[in-house]
Amino acid sequence: MIRFLVKTLVFFIDVLYKNRTYPRFYVLETVARVPYFSFLSVLHLYETLGLWRKADWLKVHFAETWNELHHLLIMESLGGNAHWGDRLFARTSALIYYWVVVVLYLASPRSAYAFMEQVEEHAFHTYDGFLKSDGEQLKSLSAPAVALNYYSNGDLYMFDEFQTSRKPEGRRPVIENLYDVFVAIRDDEGEHVKTMVACQSVDAQENFKSPHSMLPTANTEPAVVAVLPSVFPVLPTL
Ligand SMILES: [Fe+2]
Ligand SMILES: [Fe+2]
Repeated sequence: MIRFLVKTLVFFIDVLYKNRTYPRFYVLETVARVPYFSFLSVLHLYETLGLWRKADWLKVHFAETWNELHHLLIMESLGGNAHWGDRLFARTSALIYYWVVVVLYLASPRSAYAFMEQVEEHAFHTYDGFLKSDGEQLKSLSAPAVALNYYSNGDLYMFDEFQTSRKPEGRRPVIENLYDVFVAIRDDEGEHVKTMVACQSVDAQENFKSPHSMLPTANTEPAVVAVLPSVFPVLPTL
């Protein structure tokens, strides 16, 4: 089922948009970040019902959406969303995917993370292929302001927070042209893959932490899953 979902997504985005690079990336970035909203919604539901609380999961998934939002803003600045048909297709697909992943995440969080691992891996290879095929041209083009603001000039707390395999400030892309922007985006996708793998580990419920929460000086929730007083006797498990 996971493979079917990923292949369907890949088919529509890669085959239908074969010769339209920036609209394809725009659709990819619109749809591919939606599952993180699904994760946040379900985690919020668990917390509201008093079933389960784990602030770091919310924090990391929001940081992931924040990163993907900036990929989307970059694609929009490159004209990827210029045609109304692409916007309609992207938003309709995103709406469907949101609910598909909500149901999947409710039924099996590990499967939902496995799904996103494959989606992010596909995104990594898509951008890697683009860098190989169009690299020389990209090096002659300037970086959009939104990319410079995000990677170089902005507050990078959130940028660090989705990369759970790294310490804060462990990665700082240098942006001089459009090629560097796509290198940074590709590497971001690789970091999302690692985070999705970490979410599937058997001890994730006990040990999963955001990069800043792992600092010795961090003042966060204890490592053990916080169980709230609840009328529900069973905790959701991965
Ligand atoms: Fe992305
Ligand atoms: Fe991604």
